[in-house]
Amino acid sequence: IPVDPFDLVIFGGTGDLARRKVIPSIYRRFLAGQVPDGARLIGAARSDLDDDGFRDMIREAMDEFEPDTDRSRLDEFLALTCYIPVDARGDMGWETLKKVVRGDVISAFYFSVGPSLFGDLAEHLHAHEIIDGTSRVIVEKPFGHDLESAKALNAQLRAYFEERQIYRIDHYLGKETVQNLMAVRFANVLFEPLWNSNYVDHIQITVAETIGVEGRGGYYDASGAMRDMIQNHLMQLVCLIAMEPPNRFEADPVRDEKLKVIHALTQPEPHQVVRGQYEAGNGHASYREDVEDDRSRTESYVALRTTIDNWRWAGTPIYMRTGKRLSAKASEIAVYFKAPPHAVFEDEGARRQNVLTIRLQPNEGITLDVTIKEPGPGGMRLADVPLDMTFAEALEEGTEVPEAYERLIMDVMRGNQTLFMRGDEVEAAWAWADPIIASWTARGDMPKPYEPGTAGPSDADTLLRRDGRHWRSIG
Ligand code: BG6
Repeated sequence: IPVDPFDLVIFGGTGDLARRKVIPSIYRRFLAGQVPDGARLIGAARSDLDDDGFRDMIREAMDEFEPDTDRSRLDEFLALTCYIPVDARGDMGWETLKKVVRGDVISAFYFSVGPSLFGDLAEHLHAHEIIDGTSRVIVEKPFGHDLESAKALNAQLRAYFEERQIYRIDHYLGKETVQNLMAVRFANVLFEPLWNSNYVDHIQITVAETIGVEGRGGYYDASGAMRDMIQNHLMQLVCLIAMEPPNRFEADPVRDEKLKVIHALTQPEPHQVVRGQYEAGNGHASYREDVEDDRSRTESYVALRTTIDNWRWAGTPIYMRTGKRLSAKASEIAVYFKAPPHAVFEDEGARRQNVLTIRLQPNEGITLDVTIKEPGPGGMRLADVPLDMTFAEALEEGTEVPEAYERLIMDVMRGNQTLFMRGDEVEAAWAWADPIIASWTARGDMPKPYEPGTAGPSDADTLLRRDGRHWRSIG
């Protein structure tokens, strides 16, 4: 279903995110017939380009980042684009922008720039009367560096936009499997009765990457894995896995429930958090070489154990880990159910655990490991089989799973905030993460070295071994 005509202004329109993700995603939705002819994409940045220069930049970005995407309608799509040089901190461009943005269609403003410019952009948009109570603003992470800075950013945006106009992107919420997790939990009767500490032994959340800091050393070294991944992406996954069923699948009912989870997350003890930093090896430079600081103490890996202090989850450990330069790219949530209380079968596998695995990438899908009798005459021998709900097979041939940004940008145009973070959620997530980071600083904690291409520092294994458990293998 196409959305209504819109004007989407992308500040930072010549930047990496716009070229790599935002513009190609809108083109793919255009190919899918969701972007109407009356839509317009307005690039805005400081670069001195004209419309044709901007369109050439998009063509080049498509060559570089989307070599396999169908080009047959690219010229038609480019006819919907234009470019205005705008200075976020100065006067350049604002009056032109005012003339170009139409008042009678949906207007959305994508702040694809560093957070230090959010306030300036909002103020100029207001001063030049380009926005009104129906305009929408889209912002990206990092949304602050800690609680205080996140509060300041919220205040800057709320000076000119109502909360219902602000779309804070966490691209993990746009991933297809993440939404499917909610469908599996709340559209079936099978899982919810077991979804609590009586039946769930523990939960593991892994977001492993093989890449290093990839030319973002400046940003990354000032952040580290805790701020870059745990505070936002992994936190959102914890919320969706643990939240109570919302009464409706709508923005505020969903976000109210997520917020309660964040408020109930316990602070890990220092020995329940493991930080790591990759060293040189397996053909890769070390983290310190990558960020060009041979004394950096920033972590490229974090593993931790927490719990959720409420009736449903009391005592169930939640283990999270994320890191760069690990053995494989793999993001998944695994819910380990308890073993049956009594062994009926005389087979050593008889007390195996059911595990529900929600794989975000690669090979997205949901699998439930169940124990059955091994077929054949060999007696009552048991075996685990996966019940596989892999999307590639479930989808009709030729249907593609849309990328996170495609879904999220279209949701902005539809005015649907369900998959966006509310200001209070972001602040609560920082309020949880800040003391953990502060305790590292206070203790002068050094991250543990680990070899590229491995599962991270061995202390992370100890974290689970202490509880008599072990991590799933990555990948
Ligand atoms: C980003 C982080 O938000 O997410 C990156 O800043 C990370 O450091 C990326 O690489 C991972 O996203 P994905 O979708 O590839 O898992």
